[in-house]
Amino acid sequence: MSVGYAAIQWSKPKRRYDLIVGLAIIAYIGTFMLVSKMLWTGASAISDEVLILRALGSCGFILLHIILCIGPLARFDPRWLPVLFNRRHLGVMTFFIALAHGVIAIGYYHGFGTINPLVSLLTSNTEFASVQAFPYQLLGVVALIVLFLLAATSHDFWNKNLSAATWKRLHMSVYGAYVLLVAHVALGALQNDRGLLGPIATVLGVCTVGVLHLLAAWRERNRDLSSPTSSVAGEEWIDVGTPAEIPDDRARTVCAPGGERIAIFKHNGRISAVTNVCAHQGGPLGEGAIIDGCITCPWHGWQYKPQDGCAPPPFQEKVATYRVRISAGRVQVNARALPPGTPTDPVSARSEAANV
Ligand code: HEM
Ligand code: FES
Repeated sequence: MSVGYAAIQWSKPKRRYDLIVGLAIIAYIGTFMLVSKMLWTGASAISDEVLILRALGSCGFILLHIILCIGPLARFDPRWLPVLFNRRHLGVMTFFIALAHGVIAIGYYHGFGTINPLVSLLTSNTEFASVQAFPYQLLGVVALIVLFLLAATSHDFWNKNLSAATWKRLHMSVYGAYVLLVAHVALGALQNDRGLLGPIATVLGVCTVGVLHLLAAWRERNRDLSSPTSSVAGEEWIDVGTPAEIPDDRARTVCAPGGERIAIFKHNGRISAVTNVCAHQGGPLGEGAIIDGCITCPWHGWQYKPQDGCAPPPFQEKVATYRVRISAGRVQVNARALPPGTPTDPVSARSEAANV
């Protein structure tokens, strides 16, 4: 949460996380090189430069798969949340590994001619109409530029200054980079006939990312109560269920007619509602819990007071709140979002509101 920014805030768990990821990357690259050298010997031996560029490329590609799978996995099992918490570190490491792969590729495949390697990279293959000979390296270049933008704007400074919504939209382009990289690998494999392992691993990776996202979306849809809406005097009220159906210190989420998700929390027998979208990176507040009297986002722990959607002092973030009432023993939430930080009156779970 932001009251000021330090360049990088490395806590002990973050250092441990980075160390483990760093060691895993070194172990992967070492194993890749070793196994490749054992498999391709004699006349079919591969040069160290090509091996290292393949090791780095595949390492970056695997890391990107992990990054894309963490979100849905954390939705299914909260034990993934610590990994999600540090997902940005993983993203920055992926960029640097991809950059090393790109630089070595440019040097090795374009650095020995008479023209500038970058000019050669951009102009040496213009077979855009051919699948077999497509300039797949250019797809890698565009993906690398996207990964750079994401790594460069990964700090909370940019999140705050670009606005959470713009930051989120920008960072959704990781899926565009992923599609480009799948094409980079697939079309590259067509030109470097090296057996089926790479293509099979790529298909498995794409299927894993796709299936996990579909399952997470399906679960999210099911979690949104298919909520009857009643319209009284131009105001739309969404049914949430009975007070007992909202777990203590947790939320139920409903979907407003416009598609906005609302999280309705119960704390100390009182019910209040805020948007389901965290002001930080859009984390699902309704999947969080109330800790120390504050709604706590499951992704990075930003907190908001249930009664007004404001972060506890000294923090300044705010989220939209919603009016809640109890009518005929059922909790209802008003479909119209109040401006972020607007105080509301949490209703008692036992009360039969006068405003029925
Ligand atoms: C400047 C940008 C890039 C260039 C010029 C480039 C170039 C290449 C080249 C020439 C190959 C074929 C290597 C060979 O089989 O001999 C390759 C393969 C590959 N690239 Fe890239 N690439 C770039 C960006 C990326 C990025 C951003 C990623 C992913 C993070 C990536 C992932 C891969 C993978 C997974 C392979 C297949 C490796 C293997 O066959 O084991 N590339 N790239
Ligand atoms: S999305 Fe980061 S704390 Fe909510």
